[in-house]
Amino acid sequence: MSRAFRAEIRENLPLNRNHKLLTLAPLDPMSEPQPGQFYMVEVHEGFDPLLKRAFSLFRRTPQGMQLMYRLQGRGTAILGNMRPGSVINMLGPLGRGYPLPAAGETPIIIAGGIGIASVFSLIETVPARAHVIYGARTRDDLFMLNELKEISKGLSVCTDDGTDGQQANVLQMLDQVLGAHPQELADAVVYACGPRPMLRALSVMTKAKDIKAYLSLEEHMACGIGACLGCVVRAKDTGTAAEDKDRQGTYQRVCKEGPVFDADGIVWE
Ligand SMILES: Cc1cc2nc3c(=O)[nH]c(=O)nc-3n(C[C@H](O)[C@H](O)[C@H](O)COP(=O)(O)OP(=O)(O)OC[C@H]3O[C@@H](n4cnc5c(N)ncnc54)[C@H](O)[C@@H]3O)c2cc1C
Ligand code: FES
Repeated sequence: MSRAFRAEIRENLPLNRNHKLLTLAPLDPMSEPQPGQFYMVEVHEGFDPLLKRAFSLFRRTPQGMQLMYRLQGRGTAILGNMRPGSVINMLGPLGRGYPLPAAGETPIIIAGGIGIASVFSLIETVPARAHVIYGARTRDDLFMLNELKEISKGLSVCTDDGTDGQQANVLQMLDQVLGAHPQELADAVVYACGPRPMLRALSVMTKAKDIKAYLSLEEHMACGIGACLGCVVRAKDTGTAAEDKDRQGTYQRVCKEGPVFDADGIVWE
């Protein structure tokens, strides 16, 4: 099945001053997405801007899907102004999503800011199993808290300014959650999406604690299908390449081999 399809905008709902929730209904056959996969969405006025923009699957719906996005620059501003009934061109689902936890493993799913867009469908996929840690700058940047409470085993919220949950960061919250459930979380596996410094610090912490972790990375993307090499990061692959043996990693495309990588394999530069 082709990964290109058209979708009609059913709703483009403001969540706060700079975040929106886009509800889409595909007009062409579309492949079933996995949590952590993403779409390239064509946003342009005429030929400006030319590139597609990457957005994670937020949630599958009976009629199609939802994407949650933050107004960032020109592309998302154009998307933000699109009305219900408009038709957009999309490509996807793309990339490798989150490997699901094994039967005996307990998922700890961590979102920083708009990172919730990537992990929400993963939390839905493991109902009542995941300890969810959700951090944002301030209360106004936290979304879907009631839904998250319903679908998770436990929800820990933190904000930088203390306006909701604890005034802490997600690493401090992870320490607390691990300390509160030492036996249950002996077989924990961490999944996370958020700002790069958060992911980098998480990879150090999970490695020190010998916890398996999968991180979803963001890189600037042009093609989204592995052709332009514009999105490479250094990461270990299957361990067969010579470079992997001395832990230098090989160049991997975030859009193709990622966006989700084993934290242990990422070479942070
Ligand atoms: C795999 C993946 C999944 C993503 N999922 C989401 C999501 O679910 N919700 C969401 O709000 N955002 C998501 N992003 C980030 C989103 O793609 C950018 O915010 C968006 O492309 C910005 O476009 P713009 O034209 O508004 O901004 P501009 O700053 O004008 O964009 C300029 C250029 O930079 C690129 N760019 C800017 N910011 C980023 C960024 N953070 N990451 C990668 N490229 C960037 C754009 O693609 C464009 O080529 C995701 C990015 C990736 C790589
Ligand atoms: S965006 Fe072109 S190779 Fe990844």
